Amino acid sequence: MSEERFMDKIIEVCLRRGFVSPTAEIYGGAGGFYDYGPLGTLMRQKIIDLWRQSFVLDEDNIFEIAGSTMLPESVFKASGHLDSFDDPLIQCEKCKSMFKADDTIKRITGTSAEGLSLDELDKIIAENKIECPSCKGPLSKARDFNLMFKTEIGSTGGIKGYLRPETAQNIFINFKRLANFMRNKLPFGIAQMGSAFRNEISPRNFLIRGREFEQMEIEMFYDPAKENEHPRFQEVADIEINIVTREMQEKGWEKLLKITAEKAVDDGIIPNQYLAYYLAMETLLLKEFGIPEDDFWFRHMQDHEAPHYSAGNFDLEANLSIGHMEIIGNALRTDYDLQKHAKATNSAFEIVSPDGKKIVPHVCEPSLGVGRIFYTVLEKCYREDERGWSWFQFPPPIAPLEVAVFPLMKKDGLAELAQEIHNELKDAGYLSYYDESGKIGKRYARADEIGIPYCVTVDYDSLKEFSITIRDRDTMKQIKLPIEDLEIALGELMDEEAGFEEFTTGEK
Ligand code: ATP
Ligand code: GLY
Repeated sequence: MSEERFMDKIIEVCLRRGFVSPTAEIYGGAGGFYDYGPLGTLMRQKIIDLWRQSFVLDEDNIFEIAGSTMLPESVFKASGHLDSFDDPLIQCEKCKSMFKADDTIKRITGTSAEGLSLDELDKIIAENKIECPSCKGPLSKARDFNLMFKTEIGSTGGIKGYLRPETAQNIFINFKRLANFMRNKLPFGIAQMGSAFRNEISPRNFLIRGREFEQMEIEMFYDPAKENEHPRFQEVADIEINIVTREMQEKGWEKLLKITAEKAVDDGIIPNQYLAYYLAMETLLLKEFGIPEDDFWFRHMQDHEAPHYSAGNFDLEANLSIGHMEIIGNALRTDYDLQKHAKATNSAFEIVSPDGKKIVPHVCEPSLGVGRIFYTVLEKCYREDERGWSWFQFPPPIAPLEVAVFPLMKKDGLAELAQEIHNELKDAGYLSYYDESGKIGKRYARADEIGIPYCVTVDYDSLKEFSITIRDRDTMKQIKLPIEDLEIALGELMDEEAGFEEFTTGEK
């Protein structure tokens, strides 16, 4: 099975079963824009909800905002995006196709060229005799291409505006009001989930590189003199994190460095507790999403790879069928953005500490891409086995539908009883799906294909002795239970308090 084919298999299921499809598909698509379908929308929401619960709602000093996606030019002039938010573009002199120079080099040579100067990119392209990936024609020299979508605001077009390329800027420009809301007490965090837009040179690889995508970001503001006094660090101190240090990259790494959050800070591998806290939290979150822990790591980006505002990035990369891909960016943005907006607006963006010290807070930013996480979950949960159809082994907390209810037949009152059970499960808060059409085996196959963890079948015993059968997606095993025990059993299975094995062996 070729690597490219694997992504195509995932895309095929996504299109057929209502996960994701290209925007304006009937008109040939729009290049880098995607619509989540019915199942995709349910799963996307679960990804967002799980992030929101553990990264925002569980914290006492973090609140979420929802800012505008359109911002005036002045914001991006100050933030540096107007001058520096560029990607290197190369064009085929024969077929005129455009490519991102660093991505093209990485695909062909296997080594990262992110952040290299235009001259360095030209040199690598020449040395490796890289040709147009589409038609093998000669390639132009690399030039900078600004990724922001520009527009004019108002009927007279007097004000230039841009769709935000990251959600973060809304937070920085609202800093004064937000700091007041947080009673000017450090540390505090402001979170935001929403769309960001980048006019990517060659959007490819499905949700991994779109032109509109969603980010779940937090700007965590702290006193730089107290960078190792994160209030909840002890709670994650023992979490093991996979790291790829700069030194490992220089030597050519094969094995990941597995180290606890605490030791990584103590040994100077991760610069401070704020960053280490988020690397641990992301590790826990991705594992909850069903992504095996050996399939992702945090790479300490080389200086030249980090974005213009960052004093150091530890990006989460995942091992995907298309190669190693950044899924989450973790940046130490220092006081860069606050200083830039303070200067541009001729004001001071600072906090006065209880002892009268004026502090311009530093910022640690975890930036999680919804689409990239969504795709990674699909790839890592995709299964093909002896059952003869493909299926998704989504962990119950992120499965788009949680339970399917089937009457064995439509007749003799089975459909009515099954419908009643389905309605009761919905009332109890389950994402339940009712299906009465086709052979029962076919219905199991359809449920497996979209990753429904449990199927409940209503048969003639249900009428006689008030029992139902639960079928486990992963093992295909079945158990019979009294109807009245169904909700409790499902609750324990969904919350992973009990394994299906315990029910089959009679332990439950
Ligand atoms: P890449 O180098 O792959 O283009 P990036 O370094 O530009 O990524 P960041 O600017 O750090 O990415 O953005 C933070 C996060 O936003 C990324 O880790 C990713 O999850 C998401 N993201 C960025 N660009 C895109 C995109 N074009 N499509 C989907 N998600 C994206
Ligand atoms: N806020 C980080 C980024 O999008 O680049």
